[in-house]
Amino acid sequence: QLSLREELYEIMAIAVRFYEHALHQPQGSDALNYLKVDRQLSLETIQQFQLGYAPAGWESLYSYLVEEKRFSVQLVEEAGLIKARNTGGGYYDRFRDRLMIPIHDNQGRAIAFGGRTLSDEQPKYLNSPETPLFDKGKTLYALDKAKSAISKADKAVVVEGYFDAIALHAAEISNVVASLGTALSLDAVKQLLRYTDSKQVILNFDADAAGTTAAERAIGEIAELAYKGQVQLRIINIPDGKDADDFLKSTGSPEPYRQLMDNAPLWLDWQMQQLLGKNDLHQSDSYQRVAKQMVNLLTKIQNADTRMYYVNRCAEILSQGNGTLVSLRAQDLIKQL
Ligand code: UTP
Ligand code: MN
Ligand code: MN
Ligand code: MN
Ligand code: MN
Repeated sequence: QLSLREELYEIMAIAVRFYEHALHQPQGSDALNYLKVDRQLSLETIQQFQLGYAPAGWESLYSYLVEEKRFSVQLVEEAGLIKARNTGGGYYDRFRDRLMIPIHDNQGRAIAFGGRTLSDEQPKYLNSPETPLFDKGKTLYALDKAKSAISKADKAVVVEGYFDAIALHAAEISNVVASLGTALSLDAVKQLLRYTDSKQVILNFDADAAGTTAAERAIGEIAELAYKGQVQLRIINIPDGKDADDFLKSTGSPEPYRQLMDNAPLWLDWQMQQLLGKNDLHQSDSYQRVAKQMVNLLTKIQNADTRMYYVNRCAEILSQGNGTLVSLRAQDLIKQL
């Protein structure tokens, strides 16, 4: 007798195979073409990530799992794969005519799906609901495939999107997971830290408005650890509003991305850049505002040497706005700490 969770794992594994099979049938040819041509993925990568296609019909997976495989409707619904109809009874497939990306737990068991539209239907990605197997905030996409590379490189990279992670793995940069577009939770970061001795985590959110907000929120979540020095957090800035996948395609080789990884600034330096970016230090009001926000950052740094280093950095930065104020301001900053 299988437990509920075991039955759900089994249903998910069978759904993965169902979608994979459909991708290589005539009905999946547009999806397969999209993966090969638009996404430039090899069959090997498509297989490695178990990518698939959800057929366009309303009851394709339903018929297969419930009528053919004799799983109970309740279980298939609990797995997040079908939904009850509003009227008239019966059920329909949650995912229809979408490219299917299985999401695995860190042991490689499928626990959820992301489904990308092949047209411009909204949402662009439809995700599984939370289920007994899937806790969205705690899940990192591709962790099962990244964990040994994370240990080996002794650092982890977190990107936003499924295809950012897939493209980097395909380019043999495999210490990469994706955050599923949500703010990266503290819990997720703690999972990553289990695989690195040096506690290096590099965030690479999209260089668009949503990505910058997500990065700031992630930093907020992780700050508790970062201020204590329990994570060495770095931020990759991709140029021109791109994401990691766009960037790899535009450069055509993994080297420029490796450079970004190797030169990623520490998060405090990144935050200082962010503060500066929005403000003109030659205006006294913005100068005051930046100085105040910098002091706010500084007061939270717990290691005395680190704090002193950043006090000096701040003074240096602020001096670009007003040279005569710099030594005064540095003394000021130090007094406040
Ligand atoms: P993006 O909009 O940047 O997606 O959202 P992307 O992966 O770069 O999209 P394409 O396929 O290259 O055009 C980043 C991530 O946010 C989540 C997904 O995990 C996505 O990969 N997301 C985005 C959703 O869950 N739902 C959405 O509707 C959009
Ligand atoms: Mn989301
Ligand atoms: Mn984006
Ligand atoms: Mn993106
Ligand atoms: Mn993208």
